This record gives sequence, structure tokens and C-alpha cells, in this order.
Amino acid sequence: MAETPVEDLTEPQARDELARLATAMAEADALYAEAAPEITDAEYDALKARNLAIETRFPAMVREDSPSLKVGAPVSAQFSEVRHGVPMLSLDNAFDEGDVADFVARIQRFLKLPAADPVAFVAEPKIDGLSANIRYEKGVLVQGATRGDGRAGEDITANLKTISDIPHRLSGTGWPDLIEVRGEVYAPNDAFAAFNAAAEAAGSRTYANPRNFAAGSLRQIDPTVTAARPLAFFAYAWGQVSAPFAETQEGALNALKSWGFKVNPRSVRVEDTAGLMDIYRGLETDRAGLGYDIDGVVYKVDRLDWQERLGFVSRSPRWAIAHKFPAQQATTVLEGIDIQVGRTGSLTPVARLAPVTVGGVVVRNATLHNEDEIARKDVRLGDTVVLQRAGDVIPQIVSVVLEKRPTDAAPYVFPTHCPVCGSEAVREGDDVRRRCTGGLICNAQLIERLKHFVSRRAFDIEGLGEKQLIAFHDRGWINEPADIFRLARDTEKLDQLRAEDGYGETSVRNLIAGIDARRNIALERLIFALGIRDIGDQTSLLLARHFGDWASFHAAGLDAASGLPSPEWTLLAEGHGVSPRTLSVMAAAELSPADPWPEAPIDQKLALAFPGIAAPARRALAPLASDWAGIRELARIAREDGPSMTLGEIAGIAGVGPVAARAIADFFHEAHNRAVVDALIAELALIVDAERPKTDSPVAGKTVVFTGSLERFTRDEAKARAESLGAKVSGSVSKKTDYVVAGPGAGSKLADAQKHGVAVLTEDEWLALIS
Ligand code: IVH
Repeated sequence: MAETPVEDLTEPQARDELARLATAMAEADALYAEAAPEITDAEYDALKARNLAIETRFPAMVREDSPSLKVGAPVSAQFSEVRHGVPMLSLDNAFDEGDVADFVARIQRFLKLPAADPVAFVAEPKIDGLSANIRYEKGVLVQGATRGDGRAGEDITANLKTISDIPHRLSGTGWPDLIEVRGEVYAPNDAFAAFNAAAEAAGSRTYANPRNFAAGSLRQIDPTVTAARPLAFFAYAWGQVSAPFAETQEGALNALKSWGFKVNPRSVRVEDTAGLMDIYRGLETDRAGLGYDIDGVVYKVDRLDWQERLGFVSRSPRWAIAHKFPAQQATTVLEGIDIQVGRTGSLTPVARLAPVTVGGVVVRNATLHNEDEIARKDVRLGDTVVLQRAGDVIPQIVSVVLEKRPTDAAPYVFPTHCPVCGSEAVREGDDVRRRCTGGLICNAQLIERLKHFVSRRAFDIEGLGEKQLIAFHDRGWINEPADIFRLARDTEKLDQLRAEDGYGETSVRNLIAGIDARRNIALERLIFALGIRDIGDQTSLLLARHFGDWASFHAAGLDAASGLPSPEWTLLAEGHGVSPRTLSVMAAAELSPADPWPEAPIDQKLALAFPGIAAPARRALAPLASDWAGIRELARIAREDGPSMTLGEIAGIAGVGPVAARAIADFFHEAHNRAVVDALIAELALIVDAERPKTDSPVAGKTVVFTGSLERFTRDEAKARAESLGAKVSGSVSKKTDYVVAGPGAGSKLADAQKHGVAVLTEDEWLALIS
């Protein structure tokens, strides 16, 4: 995505961006856990890298739910965990010939080889799939696992066994008693296309690309589903081995082949750096015809004793690198620009393109982000544009092919009015988005807000999808959330529905049941559903936990709204950068009405009025006051016009911060919002309090690991209970673990507990501890 470079972000933008990234990655994690990933690993990594870059620049903004505080892909509850005896590492990337030369030089330096001494490599296509670790004992496949976070993955033995490229028994001779074979599971392009075509025809789920398809297929709970998926496997590495079995990478690949594995036929041994570049160019040329996706070439030092000596730097080997292909590009014609209006009124330009295939995916739309982006790239209707799919789901427009610009193409004029309601659309402060000011009267915003209200993480009303919602809105039945609940008891409208084609008695009954079921709602869902700007589901959870019940949250919102800072105060604090400390000195100052030192210059008057404030603060204030009366007015603003305590309280909640706090205050400041909220609350039966993490429980602050099959409660229950008592539940045992609760069949974690001297409890002992 053509995002603002990290170094250009302002603080509020960075905060917004971190919130957006946290949500995007939480969503990706959830989809991944449901075996339905919608973005590729590379795309996920790009989000993660951006998040980290912003956090590095603004360390104070690291959110409690920051993805960088989590490790790797989550191990889901459906498959059991497999700890990798030898970690599954990732590869450093090279993007050009210079990076490759540096890589080779680094190796030569490390091994103290004379520059003239060539290092031989094996160059292998970098398959765009998912890596797997397959364990063979005495030649028999005993376990297969995903990479996971590199240290532990998921046990997907049954699924891997369905892939015909993976032998259940090693053939040939010479394999070590114990060997873990590693390689890439992937979906061939034609098989993937055939699957999607059939799925599309059957109206079932399709996948965006072969990699997602492979990922989704591998994480099926039912292995017969995986068996029906056309997956393939290339072996290229190994993990634990009981004895060495080769002296070179090339020798190892040959051994793997002789034991029955497919090894990529384009893997070759190369004598020097020039050879690497030849292979790279050759594969880049042939890439489209290989029959499977590759995203680069991996270069590995051939001699295994050298690999051993070179070792690792943090999470990647020094002896290998991935030379990535540039992002896939295509050119097409920009046929139109649509303006979409979001829930908070932001206008987003969307490029409508003549359909074109980029990296195996047909692209018809691309985001243009905002008006500054359009202006910066000078994109005009009718232009031929270069499109690219890189580290993001949504394709981006890279540039315009000026030679192909139609002679009559005029610069694009971004609308200054909302295309839906016609209200003026304005930009405020440093917001890159232009927003519709129509608020209530804007149908687009209204529909987006209603869609948000019924969305999965909000009210999630069964039987009321987007389609029905829009249909009911079009009939004038649903204009605000409360109308949804009113509909469920509006016999007249329901009868009308019953009488209609396609809406039988059963659907009506289901609709009513779905709506009524949600008259009981968890506090965090309710807060999220309100659709307050900057309040995502994670922030909603933090707010719910902090306030505990609706009444407290509601009161805080109203109080914060009535205590919003005046525009003058905001300008002082934010526009002129006057620090909180200076503001508090100013607020505390007691100034006589008469100027005590009329002849003094303003700087000295300020020093007199506000003793103890530093010279830069005085310089910031000097242009704002021309005389003593002005200084008194500044002091008054500092004293009286600041935000209410409640706004400060909300902003002070860990992970919430001032931007979100301000958004809550702004929301409750609007009379209409207050009315919509009150009407909704009147329709609800029960708002379920959030559990405040207990601090006085015997396990508060302790780290607990549950292992083995629990008999007194399910894993989820155990976890939820422990967390509500303030404990942290972890998936693995370390020195920092306080308790391991072990049910029957506990295995390696029990051993880990003994190793680290961690207390082991039975389920009953745990219950006794917490009750
Ligand atoms: S070797 C210690 N070889 O790329 C080195 N990886 O970024 C381990 N991959 O997780 C990896 N083709 O999923 C290696 N020929 C190849 C590969 C390959 C694809 C993937 C693999 C790995 C990722 C590393």
C-alpha cells in the first residue's frame, strides 16, 4: 500500500496507524486460527514490519495489544502443540545484486577465506507455500507439524499424511534412525484454479491465492477434507537428525530424493556469485511457467561444515539468504474513480480498473487512499497505470505511464461534497482524509454504521446480514440500532415479511430469535458496536474491563463530553506545544489584575507571571500575549478550559490513550448520539458486566500453564477463569511459569516443569487454590 512513510507520520497518525495495524493483525490471526487466512505470510510480515517501525520511532505508543508483543503465528486450540527440537528459522532477504554481493562477502570474511576463493552455493527456488517438519523414526513417518512461531508448531500429522509427495515410509538406504525432513507444502496453480472454479460454481468458499489455499487446506480438522485438496511437497532441509547423512547441501538434496521425496528440479549447485545471478534471472524469466508460485531464489552455502561454522544471527542462518523477486506488476487502464463513504464519513477514492491479472489474481479495483495520494501521483481518468501486488492484500497503483496519457486527460478534482448526501466534505487539521459533514443525514455513513453494529465482533446478529440490513433500511424500517430490536416486536412489519416470497415463517422466526438473543450483550461488544471513531474491539475490551459496567462507562463518556477542552486550550496545548507541566504552572499562577511591571518586555512579564517555566516555553507563549491582560487570559485558559478529569482518566487507561479518549468525548458530545444510545439501551435486556481482572486473588499476576486432558473443565473455561482472577495463561513452560496444572496424559510440559522447578498442581489442587 502506498502508505505514509513511517518517518513522515505525525503522532496522531502514528497512533491511528498502530490501532489500525493491531486490528488488521488481530483479524488476520483470527482468520488464520479458523484455517481461513485471507492474507499471505508476506502480507502479514509487511504489517508486522510497519508496526514495529512505527513503534521504534514512537516507543511510548506501544499498545498493550501490540502484535509485536506476541510471538509468531498463534498455535490454535484445535491442534496440539509440537515443540521443534531444532528451531525452524526464517531467511534474511536480499533485494538486489548488491545485497547478494554483501551476503557472499560476509561469508568470506566470516570463514576468513581469501576473496579469490569462491564459495559454492546451491540455488533453490523459494516456493511460496508453507513449511512443514516431518519426523521419521526408523524410516517411518511418526509426526508432522507446521512451522508455527519457529519454536513450536501444530501437530498436523494426519493432514500431511494425505499428501502423496510425502512418503509414509522412507525408501532406499542410509537414512538416519531419526530424521526430521523439512520442506514446503504448496498447491500447483492449475489444481488451485480448478478447485476455485468448482467452489465458485458450487457457491462455496474460494481462496485468494494458492498459498492461502494450501494454508487453509492444511489446517482442516478433518483430514479427509485435506485429502481431497491437491497439495504437493518439495523437501529442501532437515531438523533433528540422529546422525549426519551428507557433507553438502547438494548431497543432502540427493539423499532426500533417494528416500522418496520430491526435490525441486530447478535446484542447482553454483560455483560463484555470477552464477547465482544467472540462476536468479533464469528463474525470474521462467517463473510464470513453473506451474507453482515462487517468490524468489534461496542461496545456501553448499558445504555443510561451513554452514555449521557460519551458524545463525538471531532468527536466520548466516549461510543462506532469500533473493526476492520484485513485486509482480501489470499495467491497465483506470476507468473510473469511485468515492466510498465510511462509517465516520471519510471519503476513500477507489480506482476502477480494466480487469488485469497481477501475480495470478484478477484485479478490478485498487485503493487510491486519499486525495493527496491522487495528487502526488497525478493519476487521471483514462490513464494507463502500473499496478503492483506486494506486501499487501489490496493492490496499489505505483505510477502512471505518461506516454500513454490521453491528450484530453484532466487532473482529477477530488470532490468537496459527499457523493451520497451532498453535504460538504472537509479536511481538519492534519487529517489526510476528507470527511463528509453530513453525519446523521448521510445515508452512506448510516448504512456503514449499521453494518458495523451487526458485524461479527459487535452485535453479530444471526439472520441479519448486510443484505437484509440494507433491504430493511431501504424500506425505511431500520435507521438506527434500536430499530433492529423494535422490528423484532413489530407484528405488522413481521406479518408483511411473512407474506413475502422468499421470506417464509421460518426465516421470520429465526430473525426474531436472532435479534432477541442479542438483547443480552457483553459490555465490550456494546461499546465496540457504538462505532466510535478510534475505538476498535481491543480498545473496547480495555474500556469494558476498566469500567466494569455500562453505567460507569456511560457516565464517564458523558462527563468527558461535558468537560471537553475549549478550542483555545487545545490550541495552546497542541498547536503551540505547551507542555503539561507548563500548563499546570500557568493554571496555578495567581496574577494580580494590575500589571506589576508595566515597562518590562513580554518575555520578562511571562517569567514574572509563571516563575519556573523554561525559556523555550516562554518563547512559545510570547507571541500569544501582548500584555499583562493577555497573560492573565492565558492563565485562565490553562486553569479553566482544560479537559475534565474523566477525559484524563480514560486517556490514562493502559492501551487507550488520548486520541481514543477524545473520540469518546466527541461521540457523547453529540446530542444525536446520546439519543441513539439511550434508545438502544432501552431495547436491551441485560448488559453483561466485564470482569475486572482481580488483583486480590491468590493467582493474580501469576503465570499458569494448563496441560494434559483436563477433566473438571474445558481448556477455554480454565483459561477464562484463570484470566478473570488476574492470572496470565501461557502455552509453554519456562522459568517464569508459576504453576503447571496437569491433567492425565500430560507430557513434555510436565517434564519442562520439573526441569525449571515449577510447581505442578492437579486440577483439584488448582481448584482449591483459586476457590
Ligand atoms: S530453507 C534455515 N529453502 O521460506 C533455512 N526455505 O523465509 C530454512 N522456503 O520458512 C529455510 N522455499 O517456508 C528454504 N528452498 C527453500 C525454500 C524455503 C521456500 C520458505 C520456507 C521458510 C521461508 C523462509
